[in-house]
Amino acid sequence: MAKAIFLIGFMGVGKTFLGQKLAETLEMDFFDLDFKIEKKVGMDVNEIFSTKGEKFFRQEESQLLLNWDKPGIISTGGGIVLAEKNREYLKSAEQVIWLNPSWEIINSRLENSYRPLVLERTIDELHELWTQRYHLYQECTDLIFTGNDLQDLLKLL
Ligand code: S3P
Repeated sequence: MAKAIFLIGFMGVGKTFLGQKLAETLEMDFFDLDFKIEKKVGMDVNEIFSTKGEKFFRQEESQLLLNWDKPGIISTGGGIVLAEKNREYLKSAEQVIWLNPSWEIINSRLENSYRPLVLERTIDELHELWTQRYHLYQECTDLIFTGNDLQDLLKLL
């Protein structure tokens, strides 16, 4: 199955965790766009946000996505859907899966998160951000997965 499958969804939905397991099972390569940006810039996401700013991070993120040409499972950052050009790219991509568990699950996973956008927000503000982005994920996706289990995800493909 030599195609690119993009995983989208809010922070804490398990894009990296499930994506790695999916890639292993399907014997495909796994890529994480956040890790790629960290490697290219030579800083972790938190440092990039604090020293270079979110705008810089978003530019790097778009550049990586819009030039993507490799097959595999690609885990994207939760904010990838913010830029219209990114959404257009995803809409024309071979396959996009939205990992969309309940807010309660996401909330519990974000409780001890180090992510920059989590550190600077209350849980109510994060809920608001999730609500604002919901339709953007919806707009770009081919498949919606609300579960947690790899076997259930495999059945969708
Ligand atoms: C972000 C999500 C993060 C990372 C950055 C911004 C967001 O990725 O790209 O902290 O705007 O939702 P994960 O969704 O993998 O945590």
